[in-house]
Amino acid sequence: MTAPDRAPVVARTPEELARIRAGLGRTALVPTMGALHSGHRGLIAAARGRAEAVVVSIFVNPLQFGPGEDFDRYPRAFEDDLRTCAEEGVDVVYAPAVEAMYPGEQLVTVDPGPMGHVLEGASRPGHFAGVLTVVAKLFHMVRPDVAVFGQKDAQQLAVIRRMVRDLAFGVTVVGVPTVRDSDGLATSSRNVYLSPAERTGALALSRALLAGADASVTGPVGILDAAREVLREAASSEAPVELDYLALVDAHTFAEVGADHRGEAVLLVAARVGSTRLIDNVPLTL
Ligand code: PAF
Repeated sequence: MTAPDRAPVVARTPEELARIRAGLGRTALVPTMGALHSGHRGLIAAARGRAEAVVVSIFVNPLQFGPGEDFDRYPRAFEDDLRTCAEEGVDVVYAPAVEAMYPGEQLVTVDPGPMGHVLEGASRPGHFAGVLTVVAKLFHMVRPDVAVFGQKDAQQLAVIRRMVRDLAFGVTVVGVPTVRDSDGLATSSRNVYLSPAERTGALALSRALLAGADASVTGPVGILDAAREVLREAASSEAPVELDYLALVDAHTFAEVGADHRGEAVLLVAARVGSTRLIDNVPLTL
């Protein structure tokens, strides 16, 4: 007989969390917005291997959603999330209400710098300031030794790494490779929005990245051409893929690379399928 999963302790306020944190040793934080899926399980597993205690935060952060985005309909599944955390051996779930996280108007926010104003930052103005502000607050509240994020949000991970370095947070940031469903779709809490036809259409994103990766010996121009070709076809499929951007960037600066770039790069895509905006990426070495 296997041992029953142990339910994590739940903290709802910074004060409750501080009391619990005082009793924990080396701690790893997995910041999430809930609706946990297999990608999050991978983050939690990576956290468990790096610390004595694992804290998962569950907070749908209003500050990182723009007007007209999906803050209100973002999936919320707290009881399921608690079960997932129990199965994965999470010690503490920190799930503050908006009022506990933002008791007054948030007048001071974290500026993501130039890297936060391109690509996702250009399509979603204010998004990375919202992400960095909540991550900075979570770091102050949880005081983790290690924090684990998915490489699926590659630009977010790069901007967080830069904040930790430039503002001397003293937290080790770990990036975990993207988890994909068997058909190639990157796991995302937003995948639940997709109808069956849209889900089929959405597979063009990972197919485009794969085509780009397969063309990596041909250099930046060949990579982008190969990926663009797949996306062009997908634009006229049953559930059309409306491209927001396709870009090949330097893995550290997120500046678009020139035709003669050598070294680490990331091929990124963002697109809308129906009313759902999806992002995906693949790391490449040129
Ligand atoms: O990646 C996410 O789920 C969110 O952007 C994060 C890092 C939890 C901040 O709200």
